[in-house]
Amino acid sequence: MDTLRWLSKYFKKYSILLIITIILTFGYVAFNYVHPIIIGKIVDLIQNMVETASFQIDKNQLLIYSAVILGAIIGKEACFYIKGCINEHISQNIVMQIRCELFARLEALDCRFFEKNKTGDILSRLTSDIDSVKAVLTGTVPQIVQSLSFFVIGFGIVISVSPILAIALFAVSPLVAYFAIVLGKKLKPTFIGQREAISELNSVAQENIDGNKVVKAYAREEFETEKFQKSNENYYNKHMHFVYTWVKYYPRLTFSVNLTNVVFILVGGYLTLTGHATVGQYATVNGILWCIVSPMQLLGTLLNQIQQASASTIKLRKLYDATPDIRNHKVLKRDTAIEGKITFKNVTFSYEKDRVLKSINFTANPGDTVAIIGPTGSGKSSIVNLISRFYDPREGTVYIDDINIKNIDLNTVRKSVAIAMQDIFLFSDTIANNIAYGIPTATREDIIKVAKDADAHEFISKLPDGYDTIVGERGVGLSGGQRQRISLARALLKNPSILILDDTTSAVDMETEFSIQQTLENNYKNKTTIIIAHRISSVKNADLILVMNGGHLIEWGNHNQLLNQNGYYKHVYDSQFGDFTNTGTIDVDYPNFNSFKMGGTK
Ligand SMILES: Nc1ncnc2c1ncn2[C@@H]1O[C@H](COP(=O)(O)OP(=O)(O)O)[C@@H](O)[C@H]1O
Ligand SMILES: [Mg+2]
Repeated sequence: MDTLRWLSKYFKKYSILLIITIILTFGYVAFNYVHPIIIGKIVDLIQNMVETASFQIDKNQLLIYSAVILGAIIGKEACFYIKGCINEHISQNIVMQIRCELFARLEALDCRFFEKNKTGDILSRLTSDIDSVKAVLTGTVPQIVQSLSFFVIGFGIVISVSPILAIALFAVSPLVAYFAIVLGKKLKPTFIGQREAISELNSVAQENIDGNKVVKAYAREEFETEKFQKSNENYYNKHMHFVYTWVKYYPRLTFSVNLTNVVFILVGGYLTLTGHATVGQYATVNGILWCIVSPMQLLGTLLNQIQQASASTIKLRKLYDATPDIRNHKVLKRDTAIEGKITFKNVTFSYEKDRVLKSINFTANPGDTVAIIGPTGSGKSSIVNLISRFYDPREGTVYIDDINIKNIDLNTVRKSVAIAMQDIFLFSDTIANNIAYGIPTATREDIIKVAKDADAHEFISKLPDGYDTIVGERGVGLSGGQRQRISLARALLKNPSILILDDTTSAVDMETEFSIQQTLENNYKNKTTIIIAHRISSVKNADLILVMNGGHLIEWGNHNQLLNQNGYYKHVYDSQFGDFTNTGTIDVDYPNFNSFKMGGTK
């Protein structure tokens, strides 16, 4: 019922069309009842003839009856056709609207949601769960309306024939209702189980498609097949649980429904034999009995469908009602240019329980270049995640231009901060469109300019279709360094106030990295730039260097200051100094922290 209530808000827009379909359904049902009524009339006519022994047939009367039945058949089919068209129009539009709304909601959710929910599970909500709601809209709801109409009109006819018979037949209905409710209750958990199992199955399959290279590289095909088989068996068991529940409880419902026939033979027969009803009336009720009984019997199937859809709507509504943690609070700054001052004040942050940033403090002035170095897992990417406001700190505050980042319009933040991420994602589209992702209106000249700055122009020009080469899924393969440079060009094109490069040049050779840095220093001077890197050569010209370890900011300052501190930075410098080809792993001891590794890429 919850499902219907939830769907009802979508029906509002179509109220006039809905009233028309309800009228058409009533018409369809009424036309169906013409036949048994006429049969009853004819039976009475024949009985009359037998009783009066006058075998004169009123030909006109027969013609009228035939014409009425013909008219009823035509009317019935016309109603069926028109209401079918309107039903489809309404339900398909509602499904389309739900799918669109759901996708828009999904887009608005933040990183935490996508970390907590598996892709396969989200996908199955957008596909199979919506399909099951669609089945209710196109099948169940119209059927409920039609069954109710059959029941109500049928009962009206029985009452007009014999109120006593109507009461007797109706007496069975509490029993039917009881078994229908029991059936519904027993079925609901079986449907929820099935939906969860299918989501699980989708997730396993989806993960394997994404990670097929890893599976092959480690020869784990058999293990993965077994894992899939387990999910498959789980789904089978959940489905069989439903089947057993259905075959156990459905016959109870049909038994109670069929008691109606017994009551009819008993009460209807008695009334006719004692002269309280005519034979024709008996024939009419006999003809429509099925129309009253079948909606009751159908109740089980309809409830079954609604329960199935309700398991789906529960999942859809969870997605619907999920609110992003990251959203606009009290907006103080909107649509005004951001200058690029960044301040972290006692910032502590955790994704789950463990704190990954511990009381971080630093300030970067507009136009500064800030470099962050430190071992893998030390919290470098987490710092930039907070500047892009993918997450909010647990304690402390991140300020941009001296305003709490939470009070700046989220859109303004995202427009002003460009990040070339460590995990690069390219859409299955042309290189030009991938670069212009943030600025779809960019001209080809703009795109080429940033590609040149990112040292990507040369290799792009050599590709078969140049900037129109399709990359990403099913596109041409690109090396890690090439992907990094496309991602850098994408960030540069946004012309942001704050430019973040998270390990963006780790996979390009030293020489290219050096040339890219020169270009950035010359052409993007006025931007606050944050560079996460592993090579001292990449960070030594920065205005401020932050050294991270285990979530702590352990050293900060410029290159010379840090060398003078003679700490961790100096240690790494000594290991790498002058050796541009040394990208190996260097073990470094730091007095206040455990021994940790430096170098390599995450
Ligand atoms: N999305 C996430 N969910 C949970 N833990 C995370 C997530 N991203 C990073 N971490 C953890 O946070 C810590 C810091 O990670 P990160 O900032 O990515 O380090 P770095 O960029 O220095 O390699 C690591 O221990 C890492 O495992
Ligand atoms: Mg990182």
